[in-house]
Amino acid sequence: MSYNSEFRRSIDQRDDFWREQAQHIDWIKAPNTIWRALDNGHGEWFPDGELNTSDVALDANIRAGRGDQKALIYDSPVTNTKQSFTYNELRDEVALFAGALRARGVEKGDRVIIYMPMIPQAAIAMLACARLGAVHSVVFGGFAAHELAVRIEDAKPKALITASCGIEVTKVIEYKPLVDKAIEQSSHKPDACVVFQRPQVKATMQEGRDFDWNEIVANATPAEPVPVKANDPLYILYTSGTTGKPKGVVRDNGGHAVALTYSMKLVYDAKPGDVYWAASDVGWVVGHSYIVYAPLFTGCTTIFYEGKPVKTPDAGAFWRVVQDHKVNMLFTAPTAFRAVRKEDPEADQLSRYDVSSLKRIFLAGERLDPPTYEWLKEHTGLPILDHWWQTETGWAICCNPVGIEMMTTKPGSATVPSPGFNVQVVDMEGSQVPAGEQGQVAVKLPLPPGCLMTVWGDDQRFQNSYLKPIPGFYSSGDGGFIDDDGYVFIMGRTDDVINVAGHRLSTGEMEEVVASHPAIAECCVVGAHDDMKGQIPVGLVLIKDGATIDQDELEEELVEMVREKIGAIACFRRAIVVDRLPKTRSGKILRRIIRQIADGEEYTVPSTIDDPAILEEISEKFGR
Ligand code: COA
Ligand code: AMP
Repeated sequence: MSYNSEFRRSIDQRDDFWREQAQHIDWIKAPNTIWRALDNGHGEWFPDGELNTSDVALDANIRAGRGDQKALIYDSPVTNTKQSFTYNELRDEVALFAGALRARGVEKGDRVIIYMPMIPQAAIAMLACARLGAVHSVVFGGFAAHELAVRIEDAKPKALITASCGIEVTKVIEYKPLVDKAIEQSSHKPDACVVFQRPQVKATMQEGRDFDWNEIVANATPAEPVPVKANDPLYILYTSGTTGKPKGVVRDNGGHAVALTYSMKLVYDAKPGDVYWAASDVGWVVGHSYIVYAPLFTGCTTIFYEGKPVKTPDAGAFWRVVQDHKVNMLFTAPTAFRAVRKEDPEADQLSRYDVSSLKRIFLAGERLDPPTYEWLKEHTGLPILDHWWQTETGWAICCNPVGIEMMTTKPGSATVPSPGFNVQVVDMEGSQVPAGEQGQVAVKLPLPPGCLMTVWGDDQRFQNSYLKPIPGFYSSGDGGFIDDDGYVFIMGRTDDVINVAGHRLSTGEMEEVVASHPAIAECCVVGAHDDMKGQIPVGLVLIKDGATIDQDELEEELVEMVREKIGAIACFRRAIVVDRLPKTRSGKILRRIIRQIADGEEYTVPSTIDDPAILEEISEKFGR
């Protein structure tokens, strides 16, 4: 089967195509209906099917004879620990923890927030929720208490699961005080808070509300998988939008299992028994899809890595993990390899390890810059495969479909649309732009299985953000072009979302925090180019008339406020005081131009600008 014929079939004979793919997972009740239309071109997949995601991930592998195969390997250079779980062992841990959650009142449909570092208990907690039909919402450990509170308020969880601490290179970060603060800030209070006590920190427990993980598991009865409808929610994952309020992307059970199983073959050419490593964090979509769910759906061994690409202990960390666990495919964000390259430009560390098991390296999360691509290709000699996707889609919208046909790679391109995604580059009216010209990268509806169902608790926001901007299309928020050969090039966001070290952040949210400082009259945050992290936020601030504050002091306070409200992960370290902000005559801040000035790029002064002289002033502030 060639890529072209597979792609055409996925679009022209959509239901037949996905009916076939659906046969690769274990259903409790196989679906008769493949797709059912909802509003505005959106639809739902396999609506009359029934399954349980933890059954597909664990029990199905045991039924297929893989019970004694390793399902998960935990490798933690920050605690000097290695631990592995077979499918039998992981299923037993998950079933017991699910039983423990049930004893705390968690049932099908209840939400559970998971705020954990990269320890196996994070995966066990996710799979235990899935086993009960409960809806998990994992919150990245680098987010501050306020961000956690916003998610608690929105998801209204019955329970919250956490650990006593996370470990960042050498820093121990206590999680429990953040959890306590977040629960205090939120008007919704979870009934139970389960804490996994790590040896590094003993968390203080609140009588009646907090429960020790090991104690409740010791008394638990294992839970069997609870059947759920294919379109019942499996999880909510909050992601940055253009406003301060994160969007809760809702994923279903059935479409997710079918799509991720298909993606493991299509994108990664993975087979049962392969060792698959996504070096990310369970707090991000990469962690959901490719650390936890997809490798297990496929019967692979997944690597759970608690460390960094550098400094844990050095730039050879990734190669060491590949050698120790005979990793076959490695997936990470380009920024990770930019960090490795910075510390080990000649890739000397690579020659210290036997990485012969590694077949391919996959990159996503941000644009794969051609220098990083070339460096990796030259030093590893392996296929370096870029693929483009988003929290919303859950799997690759564009990829090199190696499982069907390996295509020639083009640096800077995520290659071609994955079957199921009818990708087009259009203007805001939905008219296709000519090949080679930049426009909005959009997906003609309907979306394939696995993509978001809605925004949690706010379907209107889902409609307004994704379906209404370009009628008939899913609006990705990314700009780019398709060349004459049909290769897709993603050039960056067209909204106020920025990408810092492969992490998606909202400048609008940072602006809300900065603007809340009593001395600030107005502000604007843009993403400026950074050699290692891709982008970093920079704030331009106007001080209120009459406010007297030293500029360095103000910057320090603003940096601290963003760390406190959003988290260190925002990497907000620079606030520049200006007299005015460049605006159009209608009052819209010209963010794109500010970004271009920050990056030292050429820009065109728009005819709508209120006062062009401001641009000179801003250029000076940036030392341009
Ligand atoms: N819990 C608590 N704090 C965290 C955290 C976590 N899980 N993850 C990051 N942080 C903190 C860091 O300690 C750091 O704090 P500091 O400002 O006090 O030093 C801050 O957030 C920024 O962290 P990070 O972006 O990781 O920067 P870094 O300079 O420590 O490391 C890289 C740079 C490139 C090594 C790192 O960003 C990386 O590994 N990137 C890969 C990205 C990735 O996997 N993305 C997922 C999408 S595929
Ligand atoms: P997230 O939802 O956090 O996965 O971030 C998704 C965003 O990251 C996309 O909208 C893109 O802007 C960017 N992105 C992800 N993968 C790629 C890629 N391969 N090339 C270019 N941009 C990417």
